Amino acid sequence: MKPATPPQETPRTYRVKSFGCQMNVYDGERMAELLATRGIAPAPEGEEADLVVLNTCHIREKAAEKVYSDIGRMVKAGAAAGRTPMIAVAGCVAQAEGEEIMARAPAVSMVVGPQAYHRLPEMLDRAVAGERSSDTDMPAIAKFAALPARKRIGPTAFLTVQEGCDKFCTYCVVPYTRGAEISRPYSDLTGEAVKLVEAGARELTLLGQNVNAWRGEDEAGRVIGLAGLIRALARVDGLERIRYTTSHPADMDDELIAAHGEVAKLMPYLHLPVQSGSDRVLKAMNRSHTVESYLKLLERFRAARPDIALSGDFIVGFPGESEAEFEATLSLVDEVRYAQAFSFKYSARPGTPAAAMDGQVPREVMEDRLKRLQQRLGRDQLAFNQASVGTTCEVLVERRGKHPGQWLGKSPWLQSVWFEADAKIGDLVSVELVQAGPVSLEGKVLELALT
Ligand code: SAH
Ligand code: SF4
Ligand code: F3S
Repeated sequence: MKPATPPQETPRTYRVKSFGCQMNVYDGERMAELLATRGIAPAPEGEEADLVVLNTCHIREKAAEKVYSDIGRMVKAGAAAGRTPMIAVAGCVAQAEGEEIMARAPAVSMVVGPQAYHRLPEMLDRAVAGERSSDTDMPAIAKFAALPARKRIGPTAFLTVQEGCDKFCTYCVVPYTRGAEISRPYSDLTGEAVKLVEAGARELTLLGQNVNAWRGEDEAGRVIGLAGLIRALARVDGLERIRYTTSHPADMDDELIAAHGEVAKLMPYLHLPVQSGSDRVLKAMNRSHTVESYLKLLERFRAARPDIALSGDFIVGFPGESEAEFEATLSLVDEVRYAQAFSFKYSARPGTPAAAMDGQVPREVMEDRLKRLQQRLGRDQLAFNQASVGTTCEVLVERRGKHPGQWLGKSPWLQSVWFEADAKIGDLVSVELVQAGPVSLEGKVLELALT
């Protein structure tokens, strides 16, 4: 039996705080839409919400401790103000530590995992009646059918096509928090894509922990992979751009590589995490690719689409990583010349095999390695941006800039570009890239494309 709390008023406003990856952000958006169907409105900026959803991430350090301290802060502020918000903990910490959260944090009314949040409205009813509840079941993608359709959205939208991970990299919690790899059915996805475009999307980013492991059956009953899905989505009128993330080297196939050379709406950008430039470390990580097989894959993408922007993820300080092994990662970076990358200090995750391995690397060593790696990655990102100066491209306008008449959007290579023009959100504007910095570029308008 869950201990009861006194009945609470039905919340009128909510705030969803998402802390994790793009899939976590997507889940946060969908939870917000679910709450909206109950007539609960987003809390105005700067105001306390009646219901706070902490949509947590468990991938690296201190995620769980941060949840408890956030809850503690809310309880304290609530006591001072005479009114504590109703609190829900969602996301991957909820999945991994649901029981413990229920036991340790009596102020929490609801704990809901990433595969169960479609049940949030029922849990809310129970919370209003004073009953705490926790749901961390993993029903096979039942949630998607139970979620409301999206109405008005911005020009860029996420579409989750695949969830879960069977790869079990030895450092990673995702297979435990997100469950086994599952693909959403083809017709659900093509249907949802059309609705998203009707609601205002011009760019879709297909999401999955292993997005390129997506498999489905098309209208003719043929088994297709992600490339087939991308080709089908490219036929949706009004959809101008398609992206996907995150891919795993082991799931790459010829069709996806070919699609980059053939499908105009598929943007020239590939996020393909490598993690390390040392084969020994890769093996200990259970990554299933080698440095050579990874580089060969990239070569094939570059052959299909020579201007493709490459991005990756790196971990420094995996248990047992020697200085020479770390330097092998630097050499790999020198060879690839990434347009963008994400790099992290290894963080021991409870229950993962790597957490119990010998040779945990001291913090100062990790910090030093991360700094050196990020210097090189920063150098390459700036060089990539500088090399695009003088070229012309389309920018999809996402929001206003700081100054009047200034707009911000993304180039096909996912660079942030700002420019001045008489434009509006959702326009595709042709610009010449005239100046480059490490994280953004300035564009000069050539003409407004037909919108
Ligand atoms: N499925 C994707 C994303 C996983 S999480 C993939 O395989 O690439 C995103 C990134 O977080 C990973 O690529 C990895 O670089 C990093 N990461 C995951 N677990 C980590 C850990 N325990 N410590 C540090 N970084 C980690
Ligand atoms: Fe984690 Fe590896 Fe799965 Fe990516 S592929 S989610 S790093 S286990
Ligand atoms: Fe974090 Fe879960 Fe995403 S652990 S990175 S929110 S899959």
